[in-house]
Amino acid sequence: MKTVYLDNNATTAVAPEVLDAMLPFLKDLYGNPSSMHNFGGQVGKFIDKAREQCAALIGAKRASDIIFTSCGTESDNTAIMSALSADPSKKHIVTTAVEHPAVRALCQKLVKQGYEVTEVGVDGSGILNVEYLKNAIRKDTTLVSVMWANNETGVLFPVEEIAKICEEKNVPFHTDAVQAAGKVAINVSNTPIDYLAVSGHKLHAPKGVGFLYLKRGAKYSPFIVGGHQERGKRGGTENVASIVALGAAAELAIKNIGRENKEVRLLRDKLENEIISSVPDSFVHGDRDHRLPNTSNIGFKNVEGEAILLLLNEYGICASSGSACTSGSLEPSHVLRAMKIPFDRAHGSIRFSLSGYSTEKEIEHTIEKMPKIIEKLRSISPFKSRG
Ligand SMILES: Cc1ncc(COP(=O)(O)O)c(C=O)c1O
Repeated sequence: MKTVYLDNNATTAVAPEVLDAMLPFLKDLYGNPSSMHNFGGQVGKFIDKAREQCAALIGAKRASDIIFTSCGTESDNTAIMSALSADPSKKHIVTTAVEHPAVRALCQKLVKQGYEVTEVGVDGSGILNVEYLKNAIRKDTTLVSVMWANNETGVLFPVEEIAKICEEKNVPFHTDAVQAAGKVAINVSNTPIDYLAVSGHKLHAPKGVGFLYLKRGAKYSPFIVGGHQERGKRGGTENVASIVALGAAAELAIKNIGRENKEVRLLRDKLENEIISSVPDSFVHGDRDHRLPNTSNIGFKNVEGEAILLLLNEYGICASSGSACTSGSLEPSHVLRAMKIPFDRAHGSIRFSLSGYSTEKEIEHTIEKMPKIIEKLRSISPFKSRG
């Protein structure tokens, strides 16, 4: 059996339409959009088109609110550092305990530079208590940063409600929408979001491109200083082919979002339901109603996630234990720890994340293999003696 790729929250395949759109810019149309001659200048209009396509993906009224970046991490970092630059005397940031390292690691670095960071916790289902978050905002709060959807569990946060609270309290609001964009509807034109981060490789564009939505009037400080590209907001010659690809991927995502919510959700539910009914002591991590349609995080008691991944790999199945970005560590992820998932379940947790390319056959193959894998591992598990 060929590869069964169920790790789409780590990265996605470049869609064929997206590849077709970008290839001319890696071949004949290689000019620099800043050049005075037509050969370079002609590619500028394709960047403009991509900017419009990306604006449409998130319901931004003006294409000029989109700044192209190199990835989701750069978009997150730029947003945070921009918000902080508005009033350096304010030294308090509110965020959550389950953010991706693209936000969390920067906040931890800022603590060393004198900032105070309040990480609002989540409950056992990964749901954020908005009242706690509201109460955490202080007079010296300079930014609230809350992800739209969690990368490990898929749990969705009430971003619209949080954005309104921040607006009332006059505190800038940033959301890391890297996992949400293309999977759930986003409309920044009726939500007071100041900054929103998106990454191309999570929505069938290539790696190494992303964008930041910047609300008009929101404080901005360039993270990369150089030429006048992106109207002076982000220096460096544009990654034209990837920007065009991101535009094409955004357009494709708008077209497919209904399908993502129906067909992908059905396949995800089938996978999840069959696994938890056929494997004893298996549990879904994360609220099952408020979740991305493609993500399933399942904990298997008394087995190691890494061992499950290795056996899945033998059957050609790609998944993740904890978060792909934090794997390598044997500790349960910070997300599952924040949810207070018992150690013997968190340790054996696997994230399956589907895409529009996932097929029924692949899901059935995975459903068939899972009980055998867990049974085999439990028969040799070092956890057994711990009960
Ligand atoms: C929620 C979230 N934010 C940010 C990122 C970072 O995006 P990138 O890999 O494009 O830097 C990821 C990547 O996994 C993510 O899942």
